[in-house]
Amino acid sequence: MLLMCSGYISPEYAMEGRFSEKSDVYSFGVLLLEIVSGRRNTSFYGNEQALSLLGFAWKLWNEGNISALVDPAISDPSSQVEIFRCIHVGLLCVQEFPEDRPTASTVVSMLNSEISYLATPKQPPFAERKHHFNEERPHQNEEKCSINYVTVTVVDGR
Ligand SMILES: *[C@@H]1O[C@H](CO)[C@@H](O)[C@H](O)[C@H]1NC(C)=O
Ligand SMILES: *[C@@H]1O[C@H](CO)[C@@H](O)[C@H](O)[C@H]1NC(C)=O
Repeated sequence: MLLMCSGYISPEYAMEGRFSEKSDVYSFGVLLLEIVSGRRNTSFYGNEQALSLLGFAWKLWNEGNISALVDPAISDPSSQVEIFRCIHVGLLCVQEFPEDRPTASTVVSMLNSEISYLATPKQPPFAERKHHFNEERPHQNEEKCSINYVTVTVVDGR
């Protein structure tokens, strides 16, 4: 449930109320990038940080500078391939359009290297307009959380 709050909400759910497995994949991708980058904590302050994390990750990816995203606390040359793989998978999960994102089972296969070829990710949402939400609707975040909580509970109960 916590995942549905603030920065973990996929754009199609936040804006159009469309929820699917791909929305979960999106939330997981944000979480994965936060863990690898050591920026998990900051996202508790809302959308802005999580979205700028996506923008930052996307920038570094395009600069071929992925190593700058990795939390120094887990940065270890012997696990670099796995860590880069996590970032790559994370970026695939947070692609703007749900149809571009992998399914949850594909994500698992990619993370445990059953699938070795990873597609090139497309741009995550908000990479360029990252403050959109908070500026236009400064008090919406908390409301969003409770609405989502109810919606997800209903979906889970089926
Ligand atoms: C987040 O990190 C800051 C310092 O970096 C700390 O003061 C704060 O308690 C942390 N918050 C959470 C929710 O862990
Ligand atoms: C990688 O990104 C970091 C953080 O933005 C920056 O400090 C560093 O100079 C970059 N390195 C390269 C090789 O671009």
